[in-house]
Amino acid sequence: MSDTDMDLLSVRDLRTSYFTRRGELKAVDGASLRVGRGEIVGVVGESGCGKSALALSILRLVARPGRIVGGSVSLEGRELLSLPDREMREVRGGSIAMVFQEPMTSLNPVKTVGWQIAEAARAHEKGLGKRQALQRSAEMLKAAGVAEAERRLASYPHQLSGGLRQRAMIAMALIRRPRLLIADEPTTALDVTVEAQILGLMKDLRSEFGASIVLISHNLGVVAETCDRVYVMYAGEIVEESDVFSLFERPLHPYTAALLKSLPRPDDRSPPGTRLHTIEGSVPDLLARPAGCAFAPRCEKAVPECAVAAPGLAQAEEGRRVRCHLYAQGGSR
Ligand SMILES: Nc1ncnc2c1ncn2[C@@H]1O[C@H](COP(=O)(O)OP(=O)(O)O)[C@@H](O)[C@H]1O
Ligand SMILES: [Mg+2]
Repeated sequence: MSDTDMDLLSVRDLRTSYFTRRGELKAVDGASLRVGRGEIVGVVGESGCGKSALALSILRLVARPGRIVGGSVSLEGRELLSLPDREMREVRGGSIAMVFQEPMTSLNPVKTVGWQIAEAARAHEKGLGKRQALQRSAEMLKAAGVAEAERRLASYPHQLSGGLRQRAMIAMALIRRPRLLIADEPTTALDVTVEAQILGLMKDLRSEFGASIVLISHNLGVVAETCDRVYVMYAGEIVEESDVFSLFERPLHPYTAALLKSLPRPDDRSPPGTRLHTIEGSVPDLLARPAGCAFAPRCEKAVPECAVAAPGLAQAEEGRRVRCHLYAQGGSR
């Protein structure tokens, strides 16, 4: 069995575009990634790089004017992009679950949290009684770190704090026992203390439920904390793939290096309120991609070639790939 046969999820050369009045916007431009069983994989990049479009594409939830225009998404060897809608709905409610940044938009405001989680449980397990389903919901809330879970069943979403709502969302996702959880900026709306708790929960879920997780974040720190492997995304493309340790030890792509530099350091002695290093410039307009490397206009290490030719994703080291001319033909500069 080859490596890819053992992967839970394998995305190959995925392309998703938004067909706007101004033209075709390539939000995901040939992205490939894989997720092994029990793995926590990070996808990181600034806002607008195509992370959500990638997540929505995996679940085939891209809304108009967006459309998947090419590539392959396979879950345990089963191609999802050609699945009939009905079967795809089963995948969404079953094998793959998704958690978003703002749980308020995915929770029903007029139903109690307990009712909503119980409904998810009953959808997953036919013949489950209402009381049993509520019992399960309380157990799952507990597993998601909610104190006094039984009491919380009767709460409406707006009665919960942001952190509790996110835990309720996670409980609702997990009650269907998904094999893959896709979490898109799950902690972005939360303060750092609650963020750390939710990230800790993600790791527990992996060991407790054996679920694989794709964790999407604009924050490299969040990814560092939680993930085994990381994909760095820029302007719709994967620009670096690495295990998390090597990525932090020695980032290869200048974009990764710049993201890393913009992280606050634990040993930072600068006075509070000091501005962190930020990457000059902004993500290019995806409707008017620059020729050559999309990061070149912001890159400290750009050479003339970068403005002309788009680099391919090349293996730089064992398990590490990078889309940068500096590493072409195994060279390093
Ligand atoms: N509904 C839409 N219509 C047009 N363009 C969109 C739409 N949704 C997202 N985009 C564009 O797709 C690109 C990727 O967006 P997104 O996937 O949301 O990025 P991220 O999640 O990394 O912040 C951006 O250029 C964004 O403006
Ligand atoms: Mg997003």
